Amino acid sequence: MNMLKGKTAIVTGGTAGIGAAIAKRFVEEGAYVFIFGTNAQRGEQVVSELNALPNSAGASFLQLNIANTEEVNQAIKAALELRGQIDILVNNAGITRDQLLMKMSEADWDDVMDVNVKSCYNTCHALVRTFLKARKGKIINVSSVVGINGNPGQANYAASKAAMIGFTKALAKELASRNIQINCIAPGFIKTAMTDALTEAQKDAIMGTIPLGRLGTVDDVASAALFLASEWSDYITGQVIVVDGGMVM
Ligand SMILES: NC(=O)c1ccc[n+]([C@@H]2O[C@H](COP(=O)([O-])OP(=O)(O)OC[C@H]3O[C@@H](n4cnc5c(N)ncnc54)[C@H](OP(=O)(O)O)[C@@H]3O)[C@@H](O)[C@H]2O)c1
Repeated sequence: MNMLKGKTAIVTGGTAGIGAAIAKRFVEEGAYVFIFGTNAQRGEQVVSELNALPNSAGASFLQLNIANTEEVNQAIKAALELRGQIDILVNNAGITRDQLLMKMSEADWDDVMDVNVKSCYNTCHALVRTFLKARKGKIINVSSVVGINGNPGQANYAASKAAMIGFTKALAKELASRNIQINCIAPGFIKTAMTDALTEAQKDAIMGTIPLGRLGTVDDVASAALFLASEWSDYITGQVIVVDGGMVM
């Protein structure tokens, strides 16, 4: 359909799972996509697959630690120099360091907050002037149902994902007058490396809580991201779209 024809997007954490699926959907819909990640081998592999798609608008990989402000500034500068404009930013990179709070180390807390939340400051801060000048832009933050409902053993992760929602709502109000939309997606349990790490018993327990009766797919999340990146969502800002098979109602 070419819903993103002529657009340029950044997808953080596009080297795997949900981010790779979002990047593929965007390229298929006509966007040029920059993938940000730490794993150069996976990044180059994903980019070569994206460039090989029929009618691909193109893709590049930029290696960085999303929690490092200077590295993000440099990467966004390089992306802007290459393409002239960025239209869509997807803050998808994320990690878990699960542990009951009693046993949670300071490093487990800091790493999750840095990769999941400080990353959003880094990318949005580096791009906001460009978006304001263009008087348009789409920002999509990949939060989680855990940021809405909480989950034992994930106090750090839940806090980080709830923070993304607060950040989204505040920034939506700051940027609305310049026609910039910023929204969250809150996936439920999506089949990726992150959820493959769960035990069978944990997966069985989760299945019982999903009204639609299946784990989500990365494509389920990519569809929501495409909607929020496209002009179809031009009158939607500051919202959280929950993609979870009906768990959170
Ligand atoms: N899977 C689920 O069920 C689920 C549910 C709700 C929300 N989410 C959220 O969805 C997002 C994607 O999850 P996923 O399941 O696709 O996870 P994943 O397969 O583990 O992928 C995580 C991505 O984040 C990137 N990343 C991690 N640390 C980074 C860093 N320091 N700098 C740059 N990139 C970094 C990884 O890239 P490198 O390996 O190249 O560093 C990778 O591309 C996350 O924010 C996650 O919290 C997932």
